[in-house]
Amino acid sequence: MATTELIELAIETSKKAYVPYSHFPIGAVLVAKDGSIYTGVNIENASYPLTNCGERTAIFKAISEGQRDFSELIVYGQTEKPISPCGACRQVMVEFFKPDLKVTLVAKDKSTVEMTVGELLPYSFTDLQ
Ligand code: THU
Repeated sequence: MATTELIELAIETSKKAYVPYSHFPIGAVLVAKDGSIYTGVNIENASYPLTNCGERTAIFKAISEGQRDFSELIVYGQTEKPISPCGACRQVMVEFFKPDLKVTLVAKDKSTVEMTVGELLPYSFTDLQ
């Protein structure tokens, strides 16, 4: 799937977000090396800190299906500038993605920024240091 189609899929995915508290839907699309696609939305809770971000939902879906090799991640949010993933999601990306994995961040006007996981979280923690 081309990146433009993946961006449209991220936008469509965001419509499934469970966001009764923030009203801030996020859609994430994670592409595995074998071509499988895993979508994710943010899922909120009345106990606010229990919220799961869209990025982590997509990653956890894929990992729990046995996937370990990924090629790219697309994240859409209704932001003026391309959405900036939270620190928790960046740390989870580092756990499962190679540092050069491409992350496409998308704003509400569909403008994008491309970054690698290594750029999103440089000098990240690892217990193998
Ligand atoms: N959120 C995400 O799902 N991903 C991000 O990259 C940033 C924030 C969610 C968490 C919460 O449901 C809402 O956006 C507002 O913080």
